[in-house]
Amino acid sequence: MNKKLANGVEMPMIGLGTFLVADGKSAYDTVLHALHVGYRHIDTAQMYKNEESVGQAIKDSKIPRKEIFITTKQRGHSTIPKMRAQFEESLAKLQTDYVDLYLIHWPNQNKEINQQTWSFFETLYLEKKVRAIGVSNFTRSHLTDLFETATIKPMVNQVELHPGLSQAPLKKYLDSEGIAIESYGPLMKGGVFEGIWGEAIGEIAKKYNASIPQIIFAWGIARGVIMIPKSVTPERIEENFKSKDIVLAKEDILAIDELNRGKRVYTDPDNSPWGPFID
Ligand SMILES: NC(=O)c1ccc[n+]([C@@H]2O[C@H](COP(=O)([O-])OP(=O)(O)OC[C@H]3O[C@@H](n4cnc5c(N)ncnc54)[C@H](OP(=O)(O)O)[C@@H]3O)[C@@H](O)[C@H]2O)c1
Repeated sequence: MNKKLANGVEMPMIGLGTFLVADGKSAYDTVLHALHVGYRHIDTAQMYKNEESVGQAIKDSKIPRKEIFITTKQRGHSTIPKMRAQFEESLAKLQTDYVDLYLIHWPNQNKEINQQTWSFFETLYLEKKVRAIGVSNFTRSHLTDLFETATIKPMVNQVELHPGLSQAPLKKYLDSEGIAIESYGPLMKGGVFEGIWGEAIGEIAKKYNASIPQIIFAWGIARGVIMIPKSVTPERIEENFKSKDIVLAKEDILAIDELNRGKRVYTDPDNSPWGPFID
């Protein structure tokens, strides 16, 4: 099941997240297992410091490179030569000559810095070193600032999104701009197993003979949200992937929509520590 991005590139709706997956055996085994289970989309980042093991697992899987969708992220907040060097380092670590999706990991609070980073991303896109470009943690105002100078619109925005923070207004805006939305932190750092979320989603899960995480990933996919659950546990990697086969009834999707409480468990992008500075 794929999402067609604005430029026609097909992105699998479910992928493997790798934040806090330690470089070395853990990241290697996790990615290799996910690929064997059927995942064809891996989400990593320069800042996760595991690109080397991710790249080695992809290579050793023997699955043709073009069948795997790799996302990585640029730390940004830097000069173009430094960002170029960091991009080349990501490619070398991932053992590839292109990435499928390249994201600005966090917005800077200085719009000119984001605009400069974005123009570098546009260059990479035109050089065909990346099949798609996008942003992460960008609010509507970060995006409208970017649009002042952008010649290519971001194709994806990866943001915190889960039943406690359904991001309905941002999603509506992104839909109107043709930007795909991608969820991170879908399990709310464990919060989905507790309180109103655990109770309500637990009831829905019983109806489908599924787990709470599976219902959440199915809910995201039903809303057109790209999901990238992270797990280093082989059984959970398999369980999470199976969520793509669950078709939720409309009433259940709406019931989960109603669990939104505007609850963030990660940093608020409008109050992030990034900038205004350039290093
Ligand atoms: N762009 C950004 O700024 C940003 C920020 C955060 C995350 N991300 C991306 O989004 C991905 C997903 O977000 P996330 O890692 O924050 O959190 P997540 O996927 O919501 O949750 C991961 C946690 O849930 C556990 N888990 C996974 N599947 C489970 C299951 N079926 N049952 C019970 N527990 C389960 C994992 O444990 P085990 O691993 O021990 O199994 C891990 O502790 C990241 O890995 C990363 O790729 C991006």
